[in-house]
Amino acid sequence: MNIYPYCSLLRYNTFGIQVKADLLVEYESVGELKQALALYHERMSEKPLLHIGGGSNLLFIYDFRGMVLHSLVDGYSVIAEEGDDVLVRVGAGMTFDDFVSDSLWRGWFGLENLSGIPGQVGASAVQNVGAYGAEVGNLIETVEGVSLSDGSMHKWRGSECGYAYRQSIFKQELARQYAITYVTYRLHRTFRPSLEYGGVRQAMEQAALTEDSLTAMKLRQVILSIRRHKLPDPAVLGNAGSFFMNPVVTKRKFMSLRSRYPDIPGYMQGANAYKVPAAWLIEQCGWKGRRLNDSPAAVHDVQPLVLVNRGGARGSDILHLCEEIQTDVKKKFGIKLRHEVNIIAYGGEFEEIEP
Ligand code: EPU
Repeated sequence: MNIYPYCSLLRYNTFGIQVKADLLVEYESVGELKQALALYHERMSEKPLLHIGGGSNLLFIYDFRGMVLHSLVDGYSVIAEEGDDVLVRVGAGMTFDDFVSDSLWRGWFGLENLSGIPGQVGASAVQNVGAYGAEVGNLIETVEGVSLSDGSMHKWRGSECGYAYRQSIFKQELARQYAITYVTYRLHRTFRPSLEYGGVRQAMEQAALTEDSLTAMKLRQVILSIRRHKLPDPAVLGNAGSFFMNPVVTKRKFMSLRSRYPDIPGYMQGANAYKVPAAWLIEQCGWKGRRLNDSPAAVHDVQPLVLVNRGGARGSDILHLCEEIQTDVKKKFGIKLRHEVNIIAYGGEFEEIEP
């Protein structure tokens, strides 16, 4: 177990916000996690506790005046084979994309469209990360976790985790109550590529790939190249991926918007709802590539769903920009944009202000 008092969290948030934690604890096993929790309850239980993953979906507004936990529980093993399926149990502290890459090399398929997503395995199960037509929740067999309040161990079946678009019970009714320790994915020995998401086939054509010549590793490269073209690299420009979720509106609302804005894109969600790309709404409000006065917080110039730190931004600069965008989108389209990124103020999650 590594214990760092008054530790900078710069390395632990991809936005590159310079904040500190009173105490950062990194643990390598469930036993060490329990020791860390005992330390917290004995010595600092009046202060907040926060478990972070890769810090790729977090925005710190202030120094964190409490204990931050970070998992280094790594590695994976096959726990069962069922026909074409392989059940692989993975340590929550493993970098998600390292596992995606390893799984494909080993001939376990299913995660290829999720290539290049930053963060750790544990966070993938909390956020229900998704990209290019795939959502990790559909491949999760079980999630294991330890209660932050009493150290007890729990296990949930994937079907009990409440997975929906960027949602799970770990973000809602169980929010901040458990540290995820292991995730078991159900992968497949047969490669069945999923290419229907807009842009994937086009990128394959550009790479001169046909469906017949396609391997999972090649599909991974295609996905990585799409991401590289659209999303900024946090190592170069601080960001946390999509800052907002794509709003889902009723069919009625969508039709009324379409009568005013015939170009508005929308994707049907069941019979009565449409998902509208937040990037389009933000761009229409004139925010693409813009910043507020001389603020180092800006809207990315290729993908307006991403807010970036152009250097030295404070969390409050990014938050201010977020609120200005929410206000403008609400005014123009009557749609409330919800942030996808977890905003951390002091110890509690930031309460969203209705724009
Ligand atoms: N869409 C479809 N079908 C398609 C194409 C697009 O339903 O064939 C929908 C998407 O669901 C989305 C909208 O159209 O509502 C726009 O799609 P686009 O590919 O432009 O993606 P995006 O909204 O910019 C989302 C994710 C990204 C993910 C991409 C690719 C969110 C908030 N963001 O971005 O995730 O990489 O799709 O799948 O859902 C992230 O969460 O940090 C992130 C980068």
